Amino acid sequence: MTRAAVRSTSLALAALLAACAPAAGDRGVSPDAPLTDRMKVADAGAGRAVFRQCAACHTVNQGTGDHDGPNLYGVTRARVGHNSQRFGYTAALQAVGGMWTCARLDRWLTNPAAVVRGTSMRFPGLRDGLDRADVIAYLYANGGGTPDCR
Ligand code: HEC
Repeated sequence: MTRAAVRSTSLALAALLAACAPAAGDRGVSPDAPLTDRMKVADAGAGRAVFRQCAACHTVNQGTGDHDGPNLYGVTRARVGHNSQRFGYTAALQAVGGMWTCARLDRWLTNPAAVVRGTSMRFPGLRDGLDRADVIAYLYANGGGTPDCR
């Protein structure tokens, strides 16, 4: 398949999946609600299932190594682009500066390449805001303490 064909097939698939998703969440909070509202209903257990999409590249347990992406244990306490000592981060991500926060993770996970131009994280992003909140709660549950955006 050509690249364009792959793209249009995956767009069609994404549209199909979006059509199947509940419009306003069955948790009473819309996927498009502000982050603080989404985090109030965020569920680390559901985030564990969302993390399957990340697990091709990331591990999240303490002491597990890097794969195609850096280990994410404790990333919510880390400086951006510095959670793993050994991983070869891009200069683009390392130049961002500052610490990861809930809000930064929410933007990053919406569309990594748009937030950090030149990043090597080849992931289109999580379109559903409740999926993002859930996976953020899961990251906090793995070495991160209490989310700073509740
Ligand atoms: C195809 C592989 C891949 C997938 C899938 C992927 N990532 Fe990544 N991720 C990376 C790479 C590579 C980097 C390092 C990017 C850089 O250096 O520019 C990264 C970096 C990160 C970072 C920053 C780490 C730090 O030390 O600052 C976070 C947080 C992150 N990913 C979370 C996620 C989450 C959550 C998901 C799933 C929703 C996900 N990633 C899916 C490859 C991936």
